[in-house]
Amino acid sequence: MAVFFILMFSLILSSSYAAVQDFCVADYRAPSGPAGYSCRRPETVTVNDFVYSGLGVAGNTSNIFRAANTPASAAEFPGVNGLGISMSRVDLAAGGVVPLHIHPGANEVLLVAQGTLVAGFISSDRNTVYLKTINSGDIMVFPQGLLHFQVNVGNATPVLAFASYSSPRPGLQIVDYALFQSNFPTQLIARTTFLGIPEISRLKAVFGSTN
Ligand SMILES: *[C@@H]1O[C@H](CO)[C@@H](O)[C@H](O)[C@H]1NC(C)=O
Repeated sequence: MAVFFILMFSLILSSSYAAVQDFCVADYRAPSGPAGYSCRRPETVTVNDFVYSGLGVAGNTSNIFRAANTPASAAEFPGVNGLGISMSRVDLAAGGVVPLHIHPGANEVLLVAQGTLVAGFISSDRNTVYLKTINSGDIMVFPQGLLHFQVNVGNATPVLAFASYSSPRPGLQIVDYALFQSNFPTQLIARTTFLGIPEISRLKAVFGSTN
C-alpha cells in the first residue's frame, strides 16, 4: 500500500512538472509565427525579461499628428510573448491626434493619466460613433478591429495615456497611412473611397506616398 501511494505521489508530481509551462519569453533569434515568438529555454530567462522601462519615456511628438505611440508588445517586451497581454504609452502634444486606426489583433482599454481627450470608436454593425470627452483617471475600451481615434482637446495641455491590449501583438493600421502612404494607385483610391483626385494627391504629398 505504502509503495502504491509513493508511486501515485511521484506520478502526480512528475506529470504536473511536465504539464505546466509558466511563460514563453520571446526568442528573437527564431522566426515568429501566428502563435508569436518561440520560447527561450527557461534557464536563459531572467527577471529583466519581465520588466520593461520603455514606457517611462515620452515619445517624440514632432510629427504631423503631434502624437507618439510607444509600444510594449512582444517585439519590444519579450516577457509578454504568449501571455495574451501588452501595453503602450500614448503622448499627445497640444493639438495632437491619434488618427483613425484599428488594432486587428486586440481589444484595447485606454487609461488617461493626464489631460483631456475626445475618444471614440465606430461600430461595424450600424456605424454608430461612440464618442466621449475623457479626463485623467478615466478608462475607455475599444473593441477589437473597430476604427477608433483620440483627439487632444485640452487647451495647450499635453495628454499622457496608457493602453492595455488583449494580445501581445495587437497590430496597428492607421487609415491615413494605409491610403496615402502606401502604393495604392490614386485612381483606385478615388474609385474605392469616392474622394476627389486633387484631395488624394494632396494627402499623398502630406503622408509621403511615393506613387
Ligand atoms: C523628434 O522627431 C523629429 C522629426 O523626426 C526629429 O527631427 C527630432 O530630432 C526628434 N527629437 C528627438 C528628441 O529625438
